[in-house]
Amino acid sequence: MSSIQQLSVSHLLGIKSLSAEDIQLIFETADEFKEVINRPIKKVPSLRDLTIANLFFENSTRTRISFELAEKRLSADVLNFSSSSSSVTKGETLLDTVNNILSMKVDMIVMRHPAPGAPHFLSHHIKANIINAGDGTHEHPTQALLDAYSIREQLGDLAGKKVAIFGDILHSRVALSNIYCLNKLGAEVTVCGPPTLMPKYVQSLGVKVSHQVRDTLEWCDVANVLRIQLERQDLKYFPSLREYAQYYGINRTLLDSLGKQILIMHPGPINRGVEITSDIADSSHSIILQQVENGVAIRMAVLYLLAAKR
Ligand code: CP
Repeated sequence: MSSIQQLSVSHLLGIKSLSAEDIQLIFETADEFKEVINRPIKKVPSLRDLTIANLFFENSTRTRISFELAEKRLSADVLNFSSSSSSVTKGETLLDTVNNILSMKVDMIVMRHPAPGAPHFLSHHIKANIINAGDGTHEHPTQALLDAYSIREQLGDLAGKKVAIFGDILHSRVALSNIYCLNKLGAEVTVCGPPTLMPKYVQSLGVKVSHQVRDTLEWCDVANVLRIQLERQDLKYFPSLREYAQYYGINRTLLDSLGKQILIMHPGPINRGVEITSDIADSSHSIILQQVENGVAIRMAVLYLLAAKR
């Protein structure tokens, strides 16, 4: 790798703490790794002396596998931890669990946790680099990076691009990280969903707010469609999933009636027929699987750049 520039941070806790230059450096590094993972031999020795622990205290498919693959492509030693089969179920604290793992000479921690701020808390108590793989309803920085990288790949520089984020903004760490990331890169952002699923402070984040799906689709170049996070909802925010799909779902009839091309994105997992219909999720408008592919290159770039800070 030719990279000699460094990130301004030693942990990736959120997009909020990154500069626009950090994000561009991650993208440029990911460009090089994307080229590597499309070669017949997809592996480089960059992190061969490091051991990385993936600590998942919450379920994941894409993020967990993508980090593991990124670490293996960089030749790191990888240790996977799942809280449901660990001594966390016997009452061990987060700090005790992590300190026990670190005492086995682990260098970096990738962590998903249901509590917002859990990786920030750890960063005050341990020396290893920490990457936030999603902390409750707070941030999911590598998702936002791979989302913005995928838009850049399709449409070029993000400055001036119109990106709409649809759905459950209130409970979404993907929404918050995307807003920070897109704002830093000069894109215009509108969030669209039911009033009950909008945080009260959302306008202070520098976005427009809409409750009209059609108007928002007419405005945007990119629609990033989010899942309703029922597992985080302790109240009833809308009458039924059927009604949500009717008023806020993205479907073929709606998109065809616009007379323009929009890039359709979704971080996954998809609830088909709720926020998006299958004929749109699987259509030529959709870059959902390209997002997943780009996730490996973005995570390789983040791991590589943070390792260079050690
Ligand atoms: N996008 C995302 O975070 O998916 P997983 O929950 O499957 O990791």
